[in-house]
Parts: sequence; C-alpha cells; structure tokens
Amino acid sequence: MNRTVFERRRARYLEKIGSDDVAILASAPSTPRNRDVHFPYRQDSDFYYLTGFPEPDSVAVFLPGRKKGQFVLFCREFDRDKAIWEGNHAGLKGARKQYGADEAHPIEEIDRIMPDLLADRRRLHCGLGRRPEFDRQLLEWVNKVKSRSRAGVQAPEEFVDMDRVLHEMRLIKESEELKALRRAAEISSQAHRRAMQVCRPGMYEYQIEAEIQHEFMRHGARSPAYPTIVAGGLNACVLHYTENKDPLREGDLLLIDAGAEYEYYAADITRTFPVNGKFTSAQKSLYELVLEAQLAAIEKVRPGNHWNEPHEAAVKVLTKGLVKLGLLEGRPSRLIKKEAYKDFYMHRTGHWLGMDVHDAGDYKIDDKWRELQPGMVLTVEPGLYIGKHCKQVSKRWRGIGIRIEDDVLVTETGCEVLTDAVPKRVDEIESLMSVGNDTL
Ligand code: GLY
Ligand code: MN
Ligand code: MN
Repeated sequence: MNRTVFERRRARYLEKIGSDDVAILASAPSTPRNRDVHFPYRQDSDFYYLTGFPEPDSVAVFLPGRKKGQFVLFCREFDRDKAIWEGNHAGLKGARKQYGADEAHPIEEIDRIMPDLLADRRRLHCGLGRRPEFDRQLLEWVNKVKSRSRAGVQAPEEFVDMDRVLHEMRLIKESEELKALRRAAEISSQAHRRAMQVCRPGMYEYQIEAEIQHEFMRHGARSPAYPTIVAGGLNACVLHYTENKDPLREGDLLLIDAGAEYEYYAADITRTFPVNGKFTSAQKSLYELVLEAQLAAIEKVRPGNHWNEPHEAAVKVLTKGLVKLGLLEGRPSRLIKKEAYKDFYMHRTGHWLGMDVHDAGDYKIDDKWRELQPGMVLTVEPGLYIGKHCKQVSKRWRGIGIRIEDDVLVTETGCEVLTDAVPKRVDEIESLMSVGNDTL
C-alpha cells in the first residue's frame, strides 16, 4: 500500500485522540518455532495499519500536537551483517525516509527516551492486556515520569484501551483496503474452485490443502489468513479441524474453510461438496437448508439493519427446516427461544473481516447490537453439524457437517458478496465437479 495511505490514517488517528493524549503500539514479537527456527514473521495488524512498518523489535509512539514530530518510531538500527544474513531492513534513516517517521531511535534507547515523550500527557492509549511483558514496560515508563513530579512533570493518569478509537477506524474499510480484500477474495475463490475440480475419492485431505496452497501462492498470497480446514466426512463436525490427514471417502462430504491473506488482508470462505461430485439425497436436503439460511442471512446485510439480524434470519430458517426434516420436534418459535438448534448449529453466523480474519470492531454499542454501515465487511457462515453421537436423529443424517461461508461488503444500498465466484448451488457444484481438471 502506498505510503500516503498510512500518513492519512495517522493524521486521522492523531486528530481523534487529541493533543492531551499519547498512544503507544508495539510490533508483533517474532515467535520461535523450534530451536533456532522462527515462524514466518507477520506484523501486528494495529501496528501495521498506522505505520506500514513490517519489522519486529519496533515501537511506535503517536504524540498529537508535538512540535518536534508527532510520529516517533523505535526500531532496529541498520546492521550490515544482518543485511547479509537476513536481508534488508529499514534502519533509522529508512524509518524516516521510507516510512515517514518524524523521529527514529534505536530500540535499545527506548527506556531512556520514552519518559520524556510521556511527560505531561494526560491519557495513554495502548493495547492493554495483549502482552503482559509490554504492559509491565509501560508501567515502568509511567512510574519514571511520576518520579519527576517534584520537578512539576505530570505523568499520564489514565490508560485507555486502543480499541476504542483505532478499531472503530479499522471497522470501516477504505478504498485501498477494499482493493486488497477483493483480491484476497478472488484468489481464495480460485483456490476453492480448484479444490472442487481436483477432488476425487481416495485422495488425502492434505493433498487438497496442497492444491489450495498452490493457488494462493501462485497469485502472491504467501500465507493463508488462518489454518486451512480440509475436513472429510465426520471431520467436518470438528469446527476447528486442521489436522487434514485423513483419506477422502466415496459418499462423504468435504468441508473446506480456507482463505488467503493478500497484502495483510484476509478472505474467509467455506464450501462443502461431495467427494465424488454428487450429493446423496440426505446430504442434499441438509445442504439446501444451510444454503437457504445463508441466502436469508445475506439478504439482511444492509445499512441500518443491526449486527444480529443476519444471525436471527439464519437461525429461523435452520430451525424451521430442521423441524420439516424431522431432526427437531416442536413449534419453531419455541425451539428458537429454547435454542434447540444449538445441538446442530453451535456457532454464530459471522464476524468482521479485514486485516485479521476475526477482525477488529465492537459488535454492540451501549449493550445494543450495532447498526451495519457502508464499508463494513463481514462473513456470513451458517452451518449444520450432525455428529455421530447425535443419537436423537435418524441415522441417515449422522456424520454430516456442512458450512457455507461468504465475505460480504455492506454498500450504500445493500451488500455485495465478494466471494460469489465459488459455486454454492447444488447444480453449480455438481456441474463444476464434473468438468475434467486437465487445465489445472
Ligand atoms: N475460518 C475461521 C472462521 O470461519 O471464523
Ligand atoms: Mn469465518
Ligand atoms: Mn471460515
């Protein structure tokens, strides 16, 4: 993303927090995987949103109204040896020139410099509770300022959760963000189509995962936005199944929940389809019920509706349908009140989507579901999971897990489904699966 995007965001953020306050954000830690190997580094989303700075060992300080500079960045100094072994890094000069910091200091100097920056600021915005060791450091800096009170220096007297201001900004997507989200959705859609086309009984779940990963990577999405779920048969009833190690069996369904991360933005798509390309009648009945629930939920995504309306619509359709198919007994309105559907549908219908797959932003304001507004992006993902232990239902339904998930942008007039390039109607799926995969 262009540097001006981050500058514009910082200017808005500084204005929102106001000149009495200060905000401090730490970069994500680099996490060891085993011995001296680390997981691929991914910057913290809040940190990246305001700085565009991709390196670990950095701390950003935002000081509205400060004459000497409002954006101070602590980071690693340039080190020639490190550049040879590990690659280029910005250094102090790069932090200023490439990333627009007004001041840049070596991270090692932070304890010495920070108390001066905090002096006479009333409130400190930070991600309190996210990383205990960083919280401790914050307290130490504040205590250092306090110890100078006899010299007339005031220390911050209030800690404010960053989420208040920053996460509200992140909730409404800018045009550059929508561009990245659309691309993530496009790449992920192609990956799901590929999975449908290559899937055959006898393949292993990890082989399908490899096809998905291949499609992500060849389009420049180097990582999934979350661990890919490739769950055949009963495995689909484990909501966070990621082992992806079993063979795919003739007659089973396959649930795939996979989304690429593209330039820090996530897609999150689930499709469920028959391993052999043809739904059985029991699978089709449940599948079409989930699809009806999903379409009813998407219908409720429009400005002015509240956050929970899509969920309520999905629950209504699912409960009525479960009664009709004989999996539940009783009056739908009573069953909804008793939450009887939770035996088969135990999660909610969606979440915000953005830089994080479960993105930042409150769902309630003053204890009321918030209204949907243009620029918000959410998932719509109802499902049904009939585990093998569901002895209360006929055997024909057991071992079936289904979820259908799309990414949806709230527009001025309604909504736009960003992931509709992946088929989800029964006839569309069966038709795509019947086409040979020679071109892949
Ligand atoms: N893939 C994570 C989710 O659907 O929420
Ligand atoms: Mn999701
Ligand atoms: Mn998902």
